[in-house]
Amino acid sequence: MDYSLLQKKEAVPEAASMIETFRAIGYNLETAVADIVDNSISAGAKNIYIDRIWDGGKTIITIKDDGCGMSGGDIVEAMRPGAQNPLETRSANDLGRFGLGMKTASFSQCRKLTVISKKVGYHTAYWTWDLDYVAMTHKWELIRWAPNSYTNVLDKQKSGTMIIWNDLDRVIPPTTSANDITAKQKFSDAWARVKSHIAMTFHRFVEGNDVKIYWGENTIDAWNPFCLSEKKTQIFPTETLYFGNNKTEVKGYILPHKNNFSNEENYKRAEGINGYPASQGFYVYRGKRLLLAGSWLNLFRKEDHYKLVRISIDLPNTLDSEWQIDIKKSTATPPLSCREQLRSYALDVRNKGMEVYRHRGKILKKKAGENFQPLWLEKKKGNKWSFVVNRENQLIKDLQEEAKNNPAPAINKLLRIIEESIPTPTIYVKQSSEEELQKEPFSDMDMSLVKDMLRQSYDNQLKAGLTSKQAKAILKTIEPFNNYEELIEEL
Ligand SMILES: Nc1ncnc2c1ncn2[C@@H]1O[C@H](COP(=O)(O)OP(=O)(O)OP(=O)(O)O)[C@@H](O)[C@H]1O
Ligand SMILES: [Mg+2]
Repeated sequence: MDYSLLQKKEAVPEAASMIETFRAIGYNLETAVADIVDNSISAGAKNIYIDRIWDGGKTIITIKDDGCGMSGGDIVEAMRPGAQNPLETRSANDLGRFGLGMKTASFSQCRKLTVISKKVGYHTAYWTWDLDYVAMTHKWELIRWAPNSYTNVLDKQKSGTMIIWNDLDRVIPPTTSANDITAKQKFSDAWARVKSHIAMTFHRFVEGNDVKIYWGENTIDAWNPFCLSEKKTQIFPTETLYFGNNKTEVKGYILPHKNNFSNEENYKRAEGINGYPASQGFYVYRGKRLLLAGSWLNLFRKEDHYKLVRISIDLPNTLDSEWQIDIKKSTATPPLSCREQLRSYALDVRNKGMEVYRHRGKILKKKAGENFQPLWLEKKKGNKWSFVVNRENQLIKDLQEEAKNNPAPAINKLLRIIEESIPTPTIYVKQSSEEELQKEPFSDMDMSLVKDMLRQSYDNQLKAGLTSKQAKAILKTIEPFNNYEELIEEL
């Protein structure tokens, strides 16, 4: 198109409404803080300090680093929404993409974003985006302001940056008093989630000693979703998927069954922020940074019996657009071309994972060559499954023997054993995955046996003085006879 021939009209975004729109990108407190930490890591920080000072509605959140820092001019550039074109190539360890994160993450939580920064050879500089000021002036204008006690926080460092969030209206209602215990507790809970999220999102950086992340006074321990230090964790071979020259690596893990964790505490810790069932699925990494934790990426549904299955996917940042990485860096969508491969890899891991979950059920299987005698067996007839008591089990045989001379106690023991050992978890898993193939109760009951039992019961009732009609009425209320009304009528 020859643009020179066309009339033009400037259509500049309206500052006040545009900046309010930035607030609605859908961060939560934890994804917002993670986005700021991204920048510190990209700036080469070795130490990152995350802190908050509770003061009700005037609470402040700060994130400080000892990265390369920025000059006053750099800060202004960094504060510009969309400072960098998303299409530009980024160095492999740059966690940024859109030139927006710092602004959108901050505005999603607060009305004042202050950046204080110091670069080697420059004085400390600071600038603030104040949404109230922009709303008032309708101008894309920063103000040179920082909370009083903070202007010299970087004095002891060669370089570094501090991000300050003030007026956290999306986190704490502005009028909240510092003494409001309920509000304080609510904030503490939210803040604890942030800690867990950071421990997870940046676990590879922390594990690799690339960076120390301080939470108040203490450093945050990495939370690795795959429990590599647990001996019984099952690790699958890595599969490499190619997208042009870009490699994506997929690797499956099955966490140990609860009983096989080294201790209860580790089992508890491994469940993650949202608990075991929610934490199953893919863990998508962009470089060392975890983007998405515990999602089946619309390939499967989450189901309880896959709760121990976790699969890592490693993407280079050159695949950002193919995987539709969003501004929040918290969602990703696999390109069509690799969905099938992901699915078939995951199917394999999921099937094995289900077996671990069934743990207790495993002992049901008669293992050739081993002398183990399970109480229950899984039975297949046609394609229908059911569970039966193992008549070959020595205990059952002994009880049958005992019953010859001493029936009542033998039957009682048998009933107790059945009650105690019904393989509920295995049946549950089996039923939720193959419900339609479950054998209907009594569908292959031997009819002569039913007739025998009916006749016996019927005779007993008559002996007890009931009329035939009364006896039949009673039989119809007794499970499983209630399924055989016609047989009852024939008596
Ligand atoms: N802690 C920091 N230290 C040094 N420079 C920083 C820091 N935080 C931000 N910057 C600079 O500000 C720029 C803008 O940051 P911002 O998070 O808005 O976008 P981005 O990181 O480039 O991309 P994305 O939107 O994907 O996060 C960064 O590219 C970086 O140059
Ligand atoms: Mg960023």
